[in-house]
Amino acid sequence: MSRLSAWRESLKAAFRAEAESAALFRAFAEKARKEGKENLARALEDIASSKDALAASLLDKSGRINDSYSNLKELIAMEQYEIDLLYPRLADFCVEDGREDLVDYLSGIREKHKKVVDQLDNLIEKLEESPKDIKV
Ligand SMILES: [Fe+2]
Repeated sequence: MSRLSAWRESLKAAFRAEAESAALFRAFAEKARKEGKENLARALEDIASSKDALAASLLDKSGRINDSYSNLKELIAMEQYEIDLLYPRLADFCVEDGREDLVDYLSGIREKHKKVVDQLDNLIEKLEESPKDIKV
């Protein structure tokens, strides 16, 4: 990490930590809900929401949020990377480690990502048609 961008990389690291923390809170909230603890679930989800907001704020302060068109393009690139490389590699590791049972699960995640890419492509088309804001 170059000294000049250490502040930016630190904010990005904090963003990742808060985003992961929010996901953890949501997962634990879901578990609490399955245990019949609805009030606990809601309390954890409230905290998760504040962590989502904090993560977004950190990302913004790091200067990594662009105009909406560029953001959509970035999201597509990220999702495509996960479809093409990340999840296939994870599936390979699972097979190597004798966890073939997870391969179909990971394949299902890839399919969900393909749908997200389609949704994002659609949003870009709508934004190109109506740059002020998409029509719903
Ligand atoms: Fe993803």
